[in-house]
Amino acid sequence: MKIVSVLGSPKKNGNTASLLQAYLQGVREKNKSAEITQIILASQKIVMCKGCNSCKNGNAACIIKDDMDKNYALVRAADVLIMATPVYVFNMTAQLKAFLDRLYALNGDELFGKQIVLLTTYGATDEEEAGVGSIVQTIKMIAHMLNMNFKHNINVSTANQEILENQAALHKAFCLGLAL
Ligand SMILES: Cc1cc2nc3c(=O)[nH]c(=O)nc-3n(C[C@H](O)[C@H](O)[C@H](O)COP(=O)(O)O)c2cc1C
Repeated sequence: MKIVSVLGSPKKNGNTASLLQAYLQGVREKNKSAEITQIILASQKIVMCKGCNSCKNGNAACIIKDDMDKNYALVRAADVLIMATPVYVFNMTAQLKAFLDRLYALNGDELFGKQIVLLTTYGATDEEEAGVGSIVQTIKMIAHMLNMNFKHNINVSTANQEILENQAALHKAFCLGLAL
C-alpha cells in the first residue's frame, strides 16, 4: 500500500504534525510493508494556481514548474492520501488549499478509487465552533466528485493541551491508523 501524507501546517513540528505522526505509527504497526511518503508543505515551494486552464487545454499537466511536479507523481501512485491541517480561520490552511487547487491539473480519473483521510487540530474548545466542519465538508465533496473513498477523520482540540501531552488523542489517532 502506497500512502502519501500531506502536512498543511506551517509548523513542521506542531500539533498537527504530532497528530499525524501518531496516526502514521498506527498505520506502520498494522501494515509493516506500507510505503509512506510525507509531504511537508512548509518545506516546499508551491505557487498558487493561476487558473490558466492549460492543464485542461491539451497540456498533460500543470505548466507551473515547482515542487508540485514531484507531488503529482506521488499522488498519482498513491493508494491513500492523508490530509493533515490545523484549522485556520474556520478552514484549512492556505498551504493545503494551494496544494489542493494545484491538484486540479490532474485528470479526475487519476484519483479514482484512492482513499482519503483527514486529520485536523483546532484551538477552540468546542468542535462545532472551531470551523472543522467546513474542512470535513470540502474533503468529502472532493472525495464524492472524484470517486475517492473518504475513509475517516479525526479532529482534536488543542485549547487545553498540546497534542503531545494529550495521550487520549495520540492513542485515538494511533488506533485510527491501525484501522486504515
Ligand atoms: C492564523 C490562525 C488562525 C486560526 N484559526 C482558528 C479557527 O478558526 N478555529 C480554531 O478552532 N482554531 C484556530 N486556530 C488555532 C489552531 O488551529 C490550533 O492552534 C492548531 O492546533 C495549531 O496547529 P499547529 O501546531 O499544527 O500549527 C488558528 C491559529 C492561527 C495561527
